[in-house]
Amino acid sequence: MTVTLRVDATPTAGALTLRPWNAGDVEALVEIYRDPALRRWTSLHVENAEGAKWWLNIQERGWHTGKRLSFAVLEDDLPGVAGYMALRRPDPRGPAAGLAYWTAAHARGRGVAPRALDCLSIWALTTGGLRHLELIHDAANDASCRVAGKASFRLHHTLPDGSHLHMREYC
Ligand SMILES: CC(C)(COP(=O)(O)OP(=O)(O)OC[C@H]1O[C@@H](n2cnc3c(N)ncnc32)[C@H](O)[C@@H]1OP(=O)(O)O)[C@@H](O)C(=O)NCCC(=O)NCCS
Repeated sequence: MTVTLRVDATPTAGALTLRPWNAGDVEALVEIYRDPALRRWTSLHVENAEGAKWWLNIQERGWHTGKRLSFAVLEDDLPGVAGYMALRRPDPRGPAAGLAYWTAAHARGRGVAPRALDCLSIWALTTGGLRHLELIHDAANDASCRVAGKASFRLHHTLPDGSHLHMREYC
């Protein structure tokens, strides 16, 4: 199974496409992962073309197992990859899933992450049989907390390590 999703343009930002990653994304990934902010807040890093292929392989396997539905986010009329959005389902038949995301440094501040997150969440809750979605971010990551809020993920509680767990439910 693969899925492509679309997000409408707003008065200030272009439309978005969420599509599965492909082999043509190697160069973009290597460039994007040079960003120190991205490396600070994420755990799986790409160092070079070999690393990018390994990373892409993980995303591809995720689609096969149904445990990780991972999308490249693209902005209409702008070149390159703007972001990453993934729905993680450790139990592909279970009622819950986790969300992960980043926006490439060159595309930040235009609402790419919250708009793509909202779109993927609506799709997951309406077509994927999911009842609730979770996302976790470091308490010091204010930008990620803003993304969660804009995409209707309410702060649920603080975990023992200090991270924030946000939740969005089916309604
Ligand atoms: C967090 C992140 C995904 C936000 O993505 P985005 O597409 O820029 O989202 P937004 O445009 O809605 O901006 C969110 C917040 O980022 C901050 N921001 C705005 N412009 C920015 C810029 N040019 N550069 C960095 N941060 C910016 C603001 O605090 C903004 O909140 P506000 O709109 O209330 O002012 C992105 O900064 C990122 O990828 N960071 C590194 C990786 C990361 O933290 N991933 C999440 C792990 S849980």
